[in-house]
Amino acid sequence: MSSAALNEIIADALAGPGWIVLPNFLPAEALAELQNLASVRQAQFVAAGVGREAAHQVRQEIRGDAVLWVENDDAEMAAANQRMSDLQQLLNRELYLGLAELEWHFARYPIGSFYRRHLDQHRDQDTRVVTIVQYLNHNWGEADGGQLRIYLDAENHIDVTPHGGTLVVFLSNRFEHEVLPAQRERLSLTGWYRRRAN
Ligand code: OGA
Ligand code: MN
Repeated sequence: MSSAALNEIIADALAGPGWIVLPNFLPAEALAELQNLASVRQAQFVAAGVGREAAHQVRQEIRGDAVLWVENDDAEMAAANQRMSDLQQLLNRELYLGLAELEWHFARYPIGSFYRRHLDQHRDQDTRVVTIVQYLNHNWGEADGGQLRIYLDAENHIDVTPHGGTLVVFLSNRFEHEVLPAQRERLSLTGWYRRRAN
């Protein structure tokens, strides 16, 4: 399926249930390129924190991943940034979401690490509108753990296997979610489209 057709499916899903999981979103070459880049830049990852600015702190009992933020003028990320920018424009055109920018990072979860249940909005700031996660792992199996558990409502959740090429998109203020303990190193690219603060 073309990337334009996939983007239309994502827009429809956000307008409907507010979330979608698309296996094989990333073409094989794009997946390989991103995996390679993450491995070349391995030494630049830093422990992820929780909370913003002065309240920011590393708390591994909440989240144990290490992240590497992506700059929007990163030449080696040009194709990936372009894919995200195409999707952003479509969501603005069709859903009037007023998405002003994308912030995103690679995230590496070492064996045994997790991210406790949370919402992707900081208590004092609600400019994150849409969450996008792309997985960069080879042959992920159920026994490898590390599923993304999304709480759809009080009774229901889904578990997403973080297999390479799979994309997850959801409305940031609607769905609590967590990363279950990973039994293998787990790599992803995670981002948020934000609107401007009022
Ligand atoms: C996050 C997050 C989910 C995932 O970074 O906020 O929830 O599956 N990531 O990596
Ligand atoms: Mn999250």
